[in-house]
Amino acid sequence: MRRQQLIDLHPQPADMAQLVSEGMASDPRRLPAWLLYDAEGSRLFEAIGEQPEYGLTRIETALLEARSPELAAALGPGVLVEFGAGNARKVGPLLTALRPAAYVALDISGNHLDAACRALQERHPSVPVLGICCDYTRLEELPPHPLLNGQRLLGFYPGGSLGNFDPPEARLLLRQFARLLGRDGRLLIGIDQPKAVDRLEAAYDDRAGISAAFALNLLRRLNRDLAGDFDPAAFRYRARWQPDRSRIEMALVSRRPQQVRLAGRTWMFAEGEPLITEYSYKYTAAAFLQLAGEAGWHGTARWSDPAGDLSLHLLRQADSEAAPDRR
Ligand code: AVI
Repeated sequence: MRRQQLIDLHPQPADMAQLVSEGMASDPRRLPAWLLYDAEGSRLFEAIGEQPEYGLTRIETALLEARSPELAAALGPGVLVEFGAGNARKVGPLLTALRPAAYVALDISGNHLDAACRALQERHPSVPVLGICCDYTRLEELPPHPLLNGQRLLGFYPGGSLGNFDPPEARLLLRQFARLLGRDGRLLIGIDQPKAVDRLEAAYDDRAGISAAFALNLLRRLNRDLAGDFDPAAFRYRARWQPDRSRIEMALVSRRPQQVRLAGRTWMFAEGEPLITEYSYKYTAAAFLQLAGEAGWHGTARWSDPAGDLSLHLLRQADSEAAPDRR
């Protein structure tokens, strides 16, 4: 059996401290969402995907299973590159249908990625698997590797993860994907649609408390990795839909006035002051295609679940050779 490989480009503690200090100094306080995904955070995020209120993972998995032969035909040959692969469970049907020249999984959580790549390599022994542990939002280029030489690159970005970036950041990220994937590249991206407020708020604040535990784990991670002294019990989790921004805001709200040590500095929190852990923007197909267009991408096909909760968009670069449109 082929052995999967792993390249480690995880941000260094000094870079983390710098990013965290910038986030703590902003108004409102907001930390980069990738910090949520240490080993425990990745485990909790998987558990979120199993909660009855959080339909996104189930719906997208079913859509990929049902449509993989069509998706593979539309993508064409090349190396499949998944951004934020997590447990890499969604990609299975696509690997079977596409049989890419290789599969490259990018994720911030090294141990998780290693385990995911091993499991995937066992299930798909004929596809070479390469894991790259990195913050893909800051990756200027893919590291040189023989598996990538001369190959068309097919980006895969499922899970509605683009929604975790503010629109200007999302635009930059889409431009960066365009650079990484090259002019012949394609991007298959999952976009979560706006839906009823009660469904959205329940999805991000489930009854079992897993979403809350996921956010609070960030404080434990900061205590461990950046010499923090957060008391998680002194914060409560809040998730609310902000219709004017078409987004869910997730925050840890200080229960009382307090001071916290973190990354060598002291930070004051007023009672009720939020620390934003994440936003999750929801896009209609038209709004997403507008954003993608501003980043140089053009939609060539779209697949949705029957209820229209989520869409998979296939994009090509606007200045690449035209492919037939069937939006
Ligand atoms: C990874 N991302 C798409 C999730 C979302 O739905 O925005 C992150 C998440 N955070 C809490 N629940 C889910």
